[in-house]
Amino acid sequence: MRSGYSALLPLWLAGAITATLTGGPARAAEPPGMALLKTRCASCHNLTGPAPASLHTLWARKGPDMFYAGNKYRKSWLVSWLRHPVRIRPAGMFYADHIKPGPKRDMIDESTLKPHMALSAADAKLAAEALMTLRAHDDLIAREKVPPGSISKTMGALVFDKFLGCIACHRIEPDYGGLSGPELFTAGDRLRSRFMASYIRSPQAWDPKIWMPNKHVSDSRIIQLVHYLQSLSKGVSHG
Ligand code: HEC
Ligand code: HEC
Repeated sequence: MRSGYSALLPLWLAGAITATLTGGPARAAEPPGMALLKTRCASCHNLTGPAPASLHTLWARKGPDMFYAGNKYRKSWLVSWLRHPVRIRPAGMFYADHIKPGPKRDMIDESTLKPHMALSAADAKLAAEALMTLRAHDDLIAREKVPPGSISKTMGALVFDKFLGCIACHRIEPDYGGLSGPELFTAGDRLRSRFMASYIRSPQAWDPKIWMPNKHVSDSRIIQLVHYLQSLSKGVSHG
């Protein structure tokens, strides 16, 4: 009867349970896509943590940290983005490396930004499954509650833009907003709502040296902001 659960669970998970029950090695718990992450992604993405502890290492980071990917991303978005990656940070990981003087104001120096590698459908699925098992900061996520709800675009924009100044660093339309943070008009498809809430509450709890300021946003404003970001992404296609 012991093999009964393997029909219902992915094999690696069944193996992990068997390993746990029999006191087997923890390594057995690795999903198959982990090998792919280690060989093809780890040179740019931190899979194990911790986050950079100095500005020097923050600025030298080659890609976003992945050690809490399972708490950050929506799996369906990961699968489709990994097959057809598009730019998320308009001026790269560290904007100062990718900006040049333009006729009126600074411009993005496109020649310094390279497209992200694309994966096959099978590899995208494997990589996404493995990424979803990386779950640092469960404790921060557990503190957040985002009830379903909505906010008018006008009110949301007022809070985001005028009250809190988030627009200085984030785009809320393809050509509207700052360049030093990730664009947020796709955040609702990309990011889990409790991650958005937690990151807005305390960016430095996730990434101690990041330049996003902690604006001490109240609980009710945090929920408004998450509802606003969710409303922006509706209907946006990610290929
Ligand atoms: C040469 C360095 C490099 C390699 C290798 C690389 N990435 Fe990336 N990755 C980046 C950069 C830079 C970004 C940020 C792109 C952007 O903001 O437009 C990124 C973004 C991502 C994102 C979106 C995350 C976010 O928060 O915006 C995911 C998911 C991702 N990479 C997964 C992978 C996987 C899986 C692999 C291996 C199959 C991989 N990457 C290999 C550099 C790399
Ligand atoms: C000074 C620039 C700056 C300001 C102002 C700012 N942010 Fe950020 N924000 C960032 C940076 C930088 C990141 C993380 C970058 C990364 O992961 O590459 C970030 C990340 C985020 C994320 C997570 C997105 C992701 O893809 O990981 C959310 C959500 C967010 N900010 C919302 C807000 C909101 C809401 C405000 C206003 C209260 C705000 N930000 C103000 C720079 C800023």
